[in-house]
Amino acid sequence: MPVIAVVNRKGGSGKSTFAAHVAAWCARQGHAVMLGDVDRQQSSRGWLRRRPPELPSIAPWALDQKNMLRVPTGISHVVLDTPGGLHGFELARIVMFADAIVMPVCASVFDRESAAACHAELMTLPRVSNGRCRLATVGMRVDGRTNAAEVIRQWSAGLDVPLLGVLRETQLYVRSLEKGLTIFDLPASVAATDLAQWQPILDWLQPLVNPPVAANDAPASRPPARIPGSRAQPLMPKQEALVPGARLNVLSAAKPLSPVKVAPREPSLARPATPGQTGQIPGFLRR
Ligand SMILES: Nc1ncnc2c1ncn2[C@@H]1O[C@H](COP(=O)(O)OP(=O)(O)OP(=O)(O)O)[C@@H](O)[C@H]1O
Ligand SMILES: [Mg+2]
Repeated sequence: MPVIAVVNRKGGSGKSTFAAHVAAWCARQGHAVMLGDVDRQQSSRGWLRRRPPELPSIAPWALDQKNMLRVPTGISHVVLDTPGGLHGFELARIVMFADAIVMPVCASVFDRESAAACHAELMTLPRVSNGRCRLATVGMRVDGRTNAAEVIRQWSAGLDVPLLGVLRETQLYVRSLEKGLTIFDLPASVAATDLAQWQPILDWLQPLVNPPVAANDAPASRPPARIPGSRAQPLMPKQEALVPGARLNVLSAAKPLSPVKVAPREPSLARPATPGQTGQIPGFLRR
């Protein structure tokens, strides 16, 4: 199951925007995708609630009977939206299970410095430095009247991290997200410029999202094309219960975790239970 995490410790860099778009793109290809907030702001969850039901469905986290967050049954692709300020243990835990991390970055010096610090921390994690978790950046909210795109290009080159593309600043994103839409849900004639900017990003994601199927793979082993139950809405009321808590503990332990397979050089993600915490590592993350 491909897991794509959108990470940057800098707040407002476009993580939720980017995550929603990747999830919508996966859904439009017929994949059964979950868009999960690891973010107390729950931006993605709010966007999912606004999403028109006639569009390709995207599921949120599900809650099991023990009030634990789970990936709903039948999900084949996971996109994780993460909060600003993510670092240390929480960052390591996301990385542990991500196949790819995309870091949206804006052009200002504050954004670049913060993103560089995030990149440096990511590179200390074996899964990233050894390439098992792929890492790339995307320029966000780029004003075409400035040299912002070039600034971001040079910044990425200086860090030796691939820059997949740059997305322009436009109210199309703002207005789309308000309605639960993405650029991919707009008429091509309206979004042509932006769709073109997304293309190299999608080209990079393509092999991860649609891995080549070996000739002798049984069709039954392939992921289901649709989310059972289709609309994610029924899960929403239950998730309300998660919002008041300080942090969405999707990756926190309420009790000692089930054994997590940890490669010898990977950081351990298990930690002692903390009284009062709710939530547990989702089942799909226990590899
Ligand atoms: N390409 C764009 N053009 C115009 N506005 C954009 C673009 N991308 C994102 N925005 C806007 O920028 C703001 C911040 O984006 P977003 O919420 O996705 O960032 P974030 O990194 O998730 O923030 P946080 O760290 O607070 O979770 C939002 O208001 C969003 O609508
Ligand atoms: Mg966000």
